[in-house]
Amino acid sequence: MAKASILEKPEFSKDILSSWTAEEVLEARQKHILPSTLTYYTKPLMVSRAEGAYLYDEKGKKYLDAFAGVVTVSIGHCHPHWVKRIQYQIGTFAHSTTLYLYPQLVEFAQKLIKMVKPANPALDVCFFTNAGCEANELAAILAKNYTGRSEFLALRHSFHGRTLMAMSFTGQSLWRHSMPYVFGVYHAPANYTYRRPEGTTPKQYAHWCADEVEEIIKYSTSGKIAAYIAEPIAGFGGVIDPEPDYFPRVYEIVKKHGGLFISDEVQTGVGRTGKKFLGIEQWGVRPDIVTMAKGLGNGYPLGAVVTTREVAESMRGKVHFNTFGGSPVAMAAGLAVLEVLEKEKLPQNAAEVGGYLKQKLLKVMENQSLVGEVRGKGLMLGVELVKDKKTKEPASQELLKVMDLAKERGLVLGKGGMAGNVLRIKPPLCITKKEADFIAEVLEESLKRVR
Ligand SMILES: Cc1ncc(COP(=O)(O)O)c(C=O)c1O
Repeated sequence: MAKASILEKPEFSKDILSSWTAEEVLEARQKHILPSTLTYYTKPLMVSRAEGAYLYDEKGKKYLDAFAGVVTVSIGHCHPHWVKRIQYQIGTFAHSTTLYLYPQLVEFAQKLIKMVKPANPALDVCFFTNAGCEANELAAILAKNYTGRSEFLALRHSFHGRTLMAMSFTGQSLWRHSMPYVFGVYHAPANYTYRRPEGTTPKQYAHWCADEVEEIIKYSTSGKIAAYIAEPIAGFGGVIDPEPDYFPRVYEIVKKHGGLFISDEVQTGVGRTGKKFLGIEQWGVRPDIVTMAKGLGNGYPLGAVVTTREVAESMRGKVHFNTFGGSPVAMAAGLAVLEVLEKEKLPQNAAEVGGYLKQKLLKVMENQSLVGEVRGKGLMLGVELVKDKKTKEPASQELLKVMDLAKERGLVLGKGGMAGNVLRIKPPLCITKKEADFIAEVLEESLKRVR
């Protein structure tokens, strides 16, 4: 059948979309899109529209989106306020670059700065990008310029993006193909409590992991690091949620050695971990640089770096530019996200519904031999599947089956972890307790069937 032309039907009308089957889209993707672009599921999901916490496939079937487009839809798919602000801005002027003045840039910057201040009152200067990797690249540049040093510490199991510096920060071989990388990045152990050595308590292990940061600085670097970068909770790494002592202890060590503390809030920001705007606030340490993306735009490409005046001053006299960074439409999208976040109290909802869901998942774990651990904060939850609770052998194949079965029942889940055995539950922040019940029920039924 001849496909309807997008030029004839600029609104991507139902005619165009319904002239493609999922199989045809997949086949065309395999022909024309880089083969490294993955799809989830035995039979990949085709999305035709989305609203609130739900996705709809081409046949109109509804799915609760518990992965939020890889932790990106924060205030809900197509939130009407967000749509309105974007539509208005796109029809007024969509692009100009920061070479010219427009108030949207500073309106959003002021609002964002106000929201990150509880993490560190000195955070005062922004730069906008289109994605998380660009934000992390700039964070590295800032740290190098400010300290005059070039060595970094990052964490094993971490993920920071796929540009060269961001891949160098990333602590998983899965994402570190195509060597060589930037020199001078060293990886310390993640505080992965579930897989700690036998005989250690969670607290002892947290202290050991933090102290390893100092050992690596002493033995592997010149002793002078530019920065330490971490996700407060590792996302792709499988929702690794450090103990309360871990970051405060690391912070002391990093400061003792003259480094900056960079918090990669690409997944944990925008209230996802509950109550607080930034994930690192849960540990009470003061980041020098914060990087954000994903939920900040709710699906519109928008990344940000926020830092202190003192660190930002190291860029004075140097040019840094990003063609689309800070575009008026991105600013409108970001502003709408922050307005809705406040008005609908979504960080509080993430804490309340996330806490409720975690309790439900812990109950599921009691009766399901496949569930090794339930962890995470707010609406950033992980369920680690193992073949045996004693040996903790990863149940990677079983996880794929659970995902397929959940999809059949109308629930979309994410996966992560080095072995691909951690279910990631990170829905839009607007979900209700009833929807949390649905997630727990479908997960339990799917786990039972796999067993
Ligand atoms: C914690 C974290 N940092 C950085 C990135 C990179 O963001 P982007 O894909 O927008 O470049 C990601 C992406 O998934 C991420 O999860």
